[in-house]
Amino acid sequence: MRIDIVTLFPGMVEPVVAESILGRARTRGLVDIRVVNLRDYAEGRHRITDDYQFGGGGGMVLKPEPLFAAVEALRTPGARVILTDPRGRRFTQEVAAELTQVAHLILLAGRYEGVDERVGAGLADEMISIGDYVLTGGELPALVIADAVTRLMPGVLGGEGAAARESFASGLLEPPQYTRPEEFRGARVPGVLLSGDHARIARWRRLQALYLTWRRRPDLLDTATLDADEKRWIERFERGETLPDDGRP
Ligand SMILES: C[S@@+](CC[C@H](N)C(=O)[O-])C[C@H]1O[C@@H](n2cnc3c(N)ncnc32)[C@H](O)[C@@H]1O
Repeated sequence: MRIDIVTLFPGMVEPVVAESILGRARTRGLVDIRVVNLRDYAEGRHRITDDYQFGGGGGMVLKPEPLFAAVEALRTPGARVILTDPRGRRFTQEVAAELTQVAHLILLAGRYEGVDERVGAGLADEMISIGDYVLTGGELPALVIADAVTRLMPGVLGGEGAAARESFASGLLEPPQYTRPEEFRGARVPGVLLSGDHARIARWRRLQALYLTWRRRPDLLDTATLDADEKRWIERFERGETLPDDGRP
C-alpha cells in the first residue's frame, strides 16, 4: 500500500513516519509512506498556497490550485483522496480496516481556517474527521489515519493476530493487561492470568472486556456480537453485580 501525506509542514510529518513501527514497516517495504510538500505544487515566485476568504471573516484558507495540482501529479488508478476535516466522516477502527483495502491513499492536510470548499467537493473522494475537536492542521489527523491503517497491514505488527485482540476489533474494549512484577505496590495480578489454564484465561478476558465496555462505552454494545450468556452478564451488571477476580460467577 502507498500513502501520500500532502502537507505544508513536511517537517512535522516525516520524523513521525520515520520512527518505530511505521518506520520499520516503511523500511521493510510493507507500506510506502511519502511526505509531499504542498508548496512544491504552488505556482509563482512566492509559491503562495493560501489566501483571504471571500465574504470576509478572519483567517486564511488553502487555495484549490496547489491541492488539485498535487493530487493530479500523485494520483494512481484506484487511489482514494481523503481530505482531513472536522466536518468529515468520523474515523474509527472500522474505517481504518476499510482503508487497508485501498492500494493508494492520498491524505490532504488542511491548515489555517480550512480549505477552499471546491477541494472537498471536487477533488477529495471523502472528508474524514478524527474527532469532535479542532486542531491547528491536518498533519496530526493524517498521521493518525496512516498509523491506524498501517498497523493493520499484514506483517506490520510482530505477533500474528495482535490487532485482532485489541479494543474495537471484536466490538468491545480490550480487557486489562499485566506484566511483571506479579505484585506492585500492593496491587496483584489477577490469579487467573497466572493459572496457565488457557480456557479460563480466555473467558476471564472476554468477561472483563464485556464489563469494561458496559461501564465505559455502553454505546459499543449496540453493535457488538454477544452470545446468550454474555447478554445475561450485561443484565447482571445492570443489577449491580461485578466480576470476581477470576471472572467467573
Ligand atoms: C483549524 S482547522 C480548520 C477548522 C475549520 N475552520 C472548522 O471550523 O471546521 C485546519 C485544518 O486542520 C485539520 N483538522 C483540524 N481538526 C481536525 C479534525 N478533528 N479532524 C480532521 N482534520 C482536522 C483540517 O485539515 C482543517 O482544514
